[in-house]
Amino acid sequence: MQGSANLNLMIKAARKAGRALVKDFREVENLQVSSKGPGDFVTKADREAERIIKDDLMAARPTYGWLGEETGETPGVDPTRRWIVDPLDGTTNFLHGLPHWSVSIALEHKGEIVSAVVFDAAKDEMYWAEKGAGAWMNESRLRVSGRRQMIEAIFATGVPFGGRGTLPATLQDLARLMPVCAGMRRWGSAALDLAYVAAGRFDGYWERGIYPWDIAAGTLLVREAGGMVSGIREGDDPLEKGAVICANPALFEEFRKIIRG
Ligand code: IPD
Repeated sequence: MQGSANLNLMIKAARKAGRALVKDFREVENLQVSSKGPGDFVTKADREAERIIKDDLMAARPTYGWLGEETGETPGVDPTRRWIVDPLDGTTNFLHGLPHWSVSIALEHKGEIVSAVVFDAAKDEMYWAEKGAGAWMNESRLRVSGRRQMIEAIFATGVPFGGRGTLPATLQDLARLMPVCAGMRRWGSAALDLAYVAAGRFDGYWERGIYPWDIAAGTLLVREAGGMVSGIREGDDPLEKGAVICANPALFEEFRKIIRG
């Protein structure tokens, strides 16, 4: 793996957090049958994973800023660089013993994501990208899919839960999209949805009401694998506005038109 010093640091931190999470995940599988359930245990595992990543990255790059799902924002002495981290993306899957969750780490420089790591520790799949150097999974180069027909394409999304405000808009998206495509998937980790678009497994992905730590790393994976990424509304930055859409270049415009309604 030939990456920059920062990328190697990110991969090391993701592996370390991933190892701790895999251990905890085995315990979560046992806790499913207990009356208390695994809720508190998972919250602790999530926080511990963020601590592991933060300790390693901030020790190595003490001037960088930090944005983490669990610990929030800490501005850096260097205002141009920031880590954006979700230690456990796919928390609901993890909680229910479903082996589809990831560690997501991005490095932003002057408002642009320049290095990205999404680690699926349960399957030992390390997705990584650097601006201008392509996207990779372990040792294999990633390319988005070559499908050109909507009716052959599979799209992923996140359907909001627990009464989140974007549910009606997402249901309308589904009503427009589902009749014209080959199917949709709601697998529960936005970072992996994006990694799967980069790997050509999904043809596209969109989500409303999403946070920067869920998608920062994945957006670079898709771009570096030859895909297109934007906000859902014209001119919006997906990380700022919390609504993202991406696909292979052949399907992107048609897909975006459908989702924009
Ligand atoms: C969630 C996952 C999910 C997406 C949700 C996110 P979390 O992240 O990425 O796929 O649909 O919008 O909040 O809470 O597991 O880190």
